[in-house]
Amino acid sequence: MTAARGELIAIEGVTKRYLTSSGPVEALHDVSLSVGEGDFCTLIGPSGCGKSTLLGMLGGLVAPDEGRLLVDGQPVTTPDPRRVATVFQDAGLFPWRTALQNVEFGLELQGVPAARRRRTASELLGPLGLSGFAEKYPRELSGGMKQRVAIGRALAIDAKILLMDEPFGALDEQTRVLMGEWLLDIWRRTRKTVIFVTHSLHEALFLSTRVAVMTARPGRIKSILELSMEYPRSVESPEMAALRAKLWSEIREESLRAMR
Ligand SMILES: Nc1ncnc2c1ncn2[C@@H]1O[C@H](COP(=O)(O)OP(=O)(O)O)[C@@H](O)[C@H]1O
Ligand SMILES: [Mg+2]
Repeated sequence: MTAARGELIAIEGVTKRYLTSSGPVEALHDVSLSVGEGDFCTLIGPSGCGKSTLLGMLGGLVAPDEGRLLVDGQPVTTPDPRRVATVFQDAGLFPWRTALQNVEFGLELQGVPAARRRRTASELLGPLGLSGFAEKYPRELSGGMKQRVAIGRALAIDAKILLMDEPFGALDEQTRVLMGEWLLDIWRRTRKTVIFVTHSLHEALFLSTRVAVMTARPGRIKSILELSMEYPRSVESPEMAALRAKLWSEIREESLRAMR
């Protein structure tokens, strides 16, 4: 396999089987994917096709049975929050910490001195749209705010790679659209490399530089769509409507297979 220019992540022939009480389950089969530095790469595919497993592997939490995963040319073997940060559907905030203290958390783990981590976290509150909410506790924040705190926690440690596993999956449709616009802005400012999992065609088309469609389990890469349109994008344009139809027909096929 030849490395793409500026390749940051290489997933090479990865297969993963889980042992369950009813026998082995093959979650991923021979998955290869190359992600360039600064890409916004979206994974889309039916439930159970191994998307979270793949992110778990990139985060160093799950080991492949076959193949390997490289970040910056180095095999991923253990979690390395300085390189890779993950945001999940559930914000997973500490209820006893304020928004600011939650954003600071990763820096604290890294032993960053209090004054410096406070400064870093405070500077992020503006871009997070949380100015004025520094001292609020998670129970006082809306769902969208909580997700922004979780993303802020990942941004604070300044990892190059942001793994996002259905980060807006629990939000209502309107909030979700606004969060997509906000994330686009953050991504363009910070130039992170993002691997994003979603079931939303709108999010995939609005945000991504490339979309990898996965097959029903065992997950394989079915197709890759390169999106080179300028940002911000109008998802109502005829070009986008055509892409959406193409994407949907591929996902529909796999979702039907997953339902059988
Ligand atoms: N720890 C585990 N033990 C056993 N089976 C698992 C485990 N994690 C995931 N699986 C199974 O592997 C498959 C892929 O799961 P997952 O990666 O969560 O898919 P997705 O995120 O695409 O919905 C599913 O069939 C799931 O039940
Ligand atoms: Mg999942």
